[in-house]
Amino acid sequence: MANEDQLSLFDLAGGDAPKPQPEVDRVSDSLEEDRHLIPTSAKIPIPPGTYGSINELAEHCRQCHRCGLGATRTNAVVGRGNRKASVVIVGEGPGQHEDERGLPFVGRSGELLEKILASVKLSTEEDVYICNTVNCRPPDNRTPTPDEIAACKPYLLEQIRLIDPKIILMTGATAVKAITGDKRGITKIRGTWMQWEGRWCMPIFHPAYLLRNPSKEPGKPKWLMWQDIQTVRQKLDELKLTNG
Ligand code: URA
Repeated sequence: MANEDQLSLFDLAGGDAPKPQPEVDRVSDSLEEDRHLIPTSAKIPIPPGTYGSINELAEHCRQCHRCGLGATRTNAVVGRGNRKASVVIVGEGPGQHEDERGLPFVGRSGELLEKILASVKLSTEEDVYICNTVNCRPPDNRTPTPDEIAACKPYLLEQIRLIDPKIILMTGATAVKAITGDKRGITKIRGTWMQWEGRWCMPIFHPAYLLRNPSKEPGKPKWLMWQDIQTVRQKLDELKLTNG
């Protein structure tokens, strides 16, 4: 895929900079060459299998300008958590705190997400891996556009491939649409299991929506979220994926 639209990532550091060594020697010769290239345009595909590790992928994301969000970010925000987790949680896109720290879900939504997970004995560090449909903050926290989501989708798919979770939780309609293409409203489909690429996937409310709707009364979004996370706990137990 060597292409004149692409730059050699590691040449940017200057002539004397040591070349990072691949962590594992597991790709074909052509992929071996490709993975040191910056995908500068969304027209250049990033095929499955391009990255041997999340670190390699993150290195590319930090240099990425496949869409306009690269011009306004402070930090690219790649996933955090256990890279061997059985559960991947996909958010929409980084907000201000995430952009500043380069980590997903570290603001108020993240705090609430941690509480929701803790209620069924799941910890963000040990039991899940959290990432987003787009890795750079959309200005003013607007919803990422379909083009931005498409440009970043290979990074999302590669993270899912590398983590290889049994369960994916999609927070909000944007994440559901980005992954499965399902355009139904989140209220209709939350809490239901769907199969995607051989994985158990569940749409859940986005924590930011729960922050705007704080009532815990039965039938309200927060109450429904607590039902949904218990359904997830049951599935984990059924599949014998974590200790309770
Ligand atoms: N909201 C998201 O969708 N993702 C984050 O990382 C933070 C807030």
